[in-house]
Amino acid sequence: MKILTPTYYEDNIFNINLEDLRNQGVRLILTDIDNTIVPYGTPVPTAKILSWFNKAKELGFDFCILSNNDEERISSFNKELGFYAIHKANKPLPFSYLKCLKQYNAKKEEAVFLGDQLFTDILGANVAGIKSVLVKPIRLDNESKFISFKRKIELKFLDKVKPKRLGVIGNPIKHSLSPLLHKSFYNNLGINAVYKRYCPKENELEKYIEYFKNNGFLGFNVTVPYKSEIIKYLDEVDINALKINSVNTVKIINGKLFGYSTDGEGFIKQLNCDLTGKIVKILGAGGATPAIVQSLVNNNVGSIIIYNRTFEKAQVIAENYDNVVAMPLKDFTAECCDILINATSCEHITGEPPVDNLKGISENTLVYDINYKPKTTKFMQLAIDEGCMAYNGLEMLVNQGLLAHKIWFGKEEVK
Ligand code: ATR
Repeated sequence: MKILTPTYYEDNIFNINLEDLRNQGVRLILTDIDNTIVPYGTPVPTAKILSWFNKAKELGFDFCILSNNDEERISSFNKELGFYAIHKANKPLPFSYLKCLKQYNAKKEEAVFLGDQLFTDILGANVAGIKSVLVKPIRLDNESKFISFKRKIELKFLDKVKPKRLGVIGNPIKHSLSPLLHKSFYNNLGINAVYKRYCPKENELEKYIEYFKNNGFLGFNVTVPYKSEIIKYLDEVDINALKINSVNTVKIINGKLFGYSTDGEGFIKQLNCDLTGKIVKILGAGGATPAIVQSLVNNNVGSIIIYNRTFEKAQVIAENYDNVVAMPLKDFTAECCDILINATSCEHITGEPPVDNLKGISENTLVYDINYKPKTTKFMQLAIDEGCMAYNGLEMLVNQGLLAHKIWFGKEEVK
């Protein structure tokens, strides 16, 4: 099936990340015309496609047109563009693809083919050994009978070769490491999937959810500020996620949305020890704390004290559990705990940790900071100076991603 698998799959050419392609060293775009860059039979390039070509040109791309259509169609369409063009290209045979590379003295890895047909465009690109982008055909109603027939057969294959679609929604989202993380899972496991960032504005959450549902997404992650708001759009929510009113992972099955939270379990996995009866202190009562507390309680910890600058926020979390209490941050002492967790964003905001010393802490206390920049935070350094082991939040981030991956793809283990 590999021979029919495109390198990338996009709804339309305008979604292609041209900068990313350039960064990969691609400099030559070979493209089909009908139903790839314009609706079938459009006589001349549209203004939209002209401006897309200009943008690509500015990024340093050259272009070739490669079509199985006849000379008349190609030359009239190409009149204004003036690209190197091959008509009756005999796709999926590789010769015309290779001719274009020769014309631009380009190596195979420097070219990409854009097309809408699996059995011609993509098969040909794979035989020629170049990257390809399969796009959704723009207009199907006026195609020839032969192409329509081919499309029906293609549809059966498409389900198998189309990459699974996933992503993360949040606002802001630019900083999110999730795409990097999940892409590394897919590379590691040889999974054909794409994972992208999505940034709904206020009031746009529902629109994005509909988009995910209607475009075959396998699922998506949710981050700030939508972890609670998403819940009202879900068909079913995992009991732990419901308890903390926070969902960070959604799976879509037959148009139904199932919500989970992997944040807390991601943290617990990092601890990798028997938590029964342990005494835990947590600094901070922000977004991450409810998930961590819920997972610690599920794992039978003895007691938890949440210290927070705004005492009431700690109290709201603590009142859901018998063995969790809230304290003002100013009353914090580092004594008498097995596990100490910094879940504040204080250092990120002020450059200083939420407490100025960890005096009295036992050397056996395990210390965690859910932040991971810098690698050793000032808070961790306070603990290290007292002889404790201290860990940052990178493993928690990876673990929550792995758990989300398992929810979407099943049991595959990432090495
Ligand atoms: P949010 O509160 O919006 O969920 P967060 O980043 O998840 O944001 O959580 C921030 C946490 O860091 C809170 O516990 C916050 O304390 P408050 O609840 O009192 O705001 C804590 N925090 C942030 N800056 C702090 C500071 N300068 N000193 C102490 N705690 C701080």
